[in-house]
Amino acid sequence: MSRLVARANLRGRVAAIIGGGGGIGAAVTLALANESVHVALCDIDEACLDLTSAAALAAGVRVLGTRADATDVAQLETFYKAIAESFGQLDVVVNVAGGTQRRRFEDEPSWDAADIDRNYRYVLNSIRCALPLLRKGTPGGSIINFTSIEAHRGAATFAVYAGAKAATTNFSRALAVELAHERIRVNCIAPDTTPSRGNAAALTEADRIALMGLPEDALRKGLAMYIPMRRAPEPADLADAVVFLASDLSSCVTGTTLHVDGGANASSGFIHWPEGDGYVPAPLGGTIRRLFAVKGEKDVR
Ligand SMILES: NC(=O)c1ccc[n+]([C@@H]2O[C@H](COP(=O)([O-])OP(=O)(O)OC[C@H]3O[C@@H](n4cnc5c(N)ncnc54)[C@H](O)[C@@H]3O)[C@@H](O)[C@H]2O)c1
Repeated sequence: MSRLVARANLRGRVAAIIGGGGGIGAAVTLALANESVHVALCDIDEACLDLTSAAALAAGVRVLGTRADATDVAQLETFYKAIAESFGQLDVVVNVAGGTQRRRFEDEPSWDAADIDRNYRYVLNSIRCALPLLRKGTPGGSIINFTSIEAHRGAATFAVYAGAKAATTNFSRALAVELAHERIRVNCIAPDTTPSRGNAAALTEADRIALMGLPEDALRKGLAMYIPMRRAPEPADLADAVVFLASDLSSCVTGTTLHVDGGANASSGFIHWPEGDGYVPAPLGGTIRRLFAVKGEKDVR
């Protein structure tokens, strides 16, 4: 066994993954299973749930796959009851489920319900159900909540989602302090644009049509404008961060947020303007001339 694997100390632990069937959640489930963590996952999508459960089983761990809508408290409680019966304990909880659709605040007819439920309220219910089981697990449990870069910036057209994710972020920080004396850690992971069904669903139909058929090179240049590392994270990059926070490698890390976004949060507001002047918040003269075709002056690069 390598020193890293020994220090991580994950073998035989038990993890619950809410929304663990598809998207980033599937990558999280499989990454933990591949580190010999027994996994209990729930999802609203039965097909994804079955596929991911079968893949986790093939990794040689115990698997409990349950169809459950995390925003329905009764279904969430049934899921945790099944964990208690099957495993009797928990060591890791990953609240991955979440999402939104891009729209202006005033165009959202039911802003008070769905986005708050699926990005904040269920997280509270999930943790409330998990805590008694975490206390029966290996001393030093880990709770990992998925938030978003939008919790950390003025995310126009994502206002309610941004508010709900910010609520989850600060709730996690506060709870981390409450639970620290029990060595139960609470942290967040904040992705930015990561390819998944949820990411595509966040766009409007018009956004999706506009993106269709664009050459790879143009799409890559678009990402490079605002992601300093010039590539979007993959679900596996998020899953690696979960493995770190779930393991003893992070045993003194609590109340914090890991930004797994290629540097997008660090550069918030700074843009690498196309063929322009490098990272600056507002475009400089040369960029404005090129973008808005101002004639007459010398082109400055
Ligand atoms: N993908 C991105 O670009 C991105 C960016 C920022 C933040 N995030 C956050 O990361 C998390 C994962 O995002 P994703 O893109 O993988 O989402 P996703 O929708 O693709 O997948 C997550 C999984 O959760 C399941 N799920 C959704 N609602 C559920 C519910 N109510 N109950 C049970 N299961 C449910 C889905 O069926 C899916 O299998 C979310 O919290 C999201 O807000 C994602």
